[in-house]
Amino acid sequence: MEYRAPKGIHDIFSPDIYIWQEVESSAKELFKAYGYSEIRTPIIEYTEVFTRSIGETTDIVEKEMYTFTDKGGRSITLRPEGTASAVRCYIEHSLFNLPSPQKFFYFGPMFRYERPQKGRFRQFYQIGIEAFGESHPTIDAEVISLLYNFFKKIRLNDIIFELNSIGCQKCRSDFKEILLWSFKENLENLCPDCQRRYNLNPLRILDCKVDRCIEARQEAPSLMNYLCEDCKKHHEELIERLVYLQIPYTINPNLVRGLDYYTKTVFEATSFHLGAQKAVAAGGRYDKLVEEFGGPPTPAIGFAIGMERLITLLKNKQEPPIPIPDLYIASLGKKCEIEGLKIAESLREKGFMVEIHYGGSSLRSQMRKADRLRARFVFILGEDELESGKMKWKNLINKQQGEIEYRNIDSILNLLKEV
Ligand code: HAM
Repeated sequence: MEYRAPKGIHDIFSPDIYIWQEVESSAKELFKAYGYSEIRTPIIEYTEVFTRSIGETTDIVEKEMYTFTDKGGRSITLRPEGTASAVRCYIEHSLFNLPSPQKFFYFGPMFRYERPQKGRFRQFYQIGIEAFGESHPTIDAEVISLLYNFFKKIRLNDIIFELNSIGCQKCRSDFKEILLWSFKENLENLCPDCQRRYNLNPLRILDCKVDRCIEARQEAPSLMNYLCEDCKKHHEELIERLVYLQIPYTINPNLVRGLDYYTKTVFEATSFHLGAQKAVAAGGRYDKLVEEFGGPPTPAIGFAIGMERLITLLKNKQEPPIPIPDLYIASLGKKCEIEGLKIAESLREKGFMVEIHYGGSSLRSQMRKADRLRARFVFILGEDELESGKMKWKNLINKQQGEIEYRNIDSILNLLKEV
């Protein structure tokens, strides 16, 4: 039997893994500068954690969750996203008693049973942040600026920021009435999903990607025109700060997001290079979720970056940063191999990346291997070298060569410090 990873689920290894690692460490560095600390929540949660937060009528909850019953008869779900778990953790550990805002970042796999296609997987990774306990629009601007600076740090320049406000429960319920009324006449022109959404979650019609729905909503009203005073002011103050920080954005009045917990600010970072699944990161404010989960009233905001989409964009632009050995130790015969291993161990202890020969092949093929690995130096240890106490070295970059005492680790270290 030929084993394969399940559909829509993939392995990550060299050379791509080096881009992943570089992205992760850039993100961690930046998150630290903004005062975010890491949070590691479980990959599984009780199913209600997701159904109650993401929303019963969303695609994720209706169709995409990996849910099973455990041996104790409880319904368990593989996390489809990170926000719900962060909220659960925040409440469970009474983190609201700590000074606000509490700011967290996370990195890890998420699971959604979606139809696999370019940029859409069943297991995918997100890097996300969540900030709890601050309602001021300055933090909205700071969170968007953090995402903007993250893309800048990893040298992705052609990312577009789409922004909208979907208001609070009050302005949204007024708007829903207006929206229902506006679609009433051409309900049959909507796709079957949106016809269902009409009764359950009409705002989602605005975000549907089906051509006939895009056509049908040409004349639809914009929520932006129905925001209450508070939401309108929040949005204007956010814009004022983004302008001041010189963060480019476009207002997309149809951006409503596929998860139900959002209030006020929502945003997506998109790229034309990604095709249909163009959102590389997305997020927004969710001021009611902590309270709905049984915690104290706590405004919150966050985003998540889709790692696979990000890596696709980076791979179009750069070669993976594959580590290059400082040194390859070629050896001929058992005694030399053992001596080579000893030298390698002393140098690795000092932090150098050293590859060695494990026996069996000619010096020529060992030199070819050193070249293929793009090692900076090669050391050659044969019977003659062993006897004389000196081994040959060659710098494969500037082609200099010479001899060095193989027991004198200090002089080897000095040599390796040369470029
Ligand atoms: P989301 O829009 O569902 O939001 O996902 C965020 C990002 O994850 C997307 O923009 C996309 O890049 C990536 N993504 C989502 N689904 C897939 C998939 N099936 N395959 C590959 N990549 C995918 C959330 O998850 C929210 N929790 C974000 C958030 C955090 N909002 C507030 N805080």
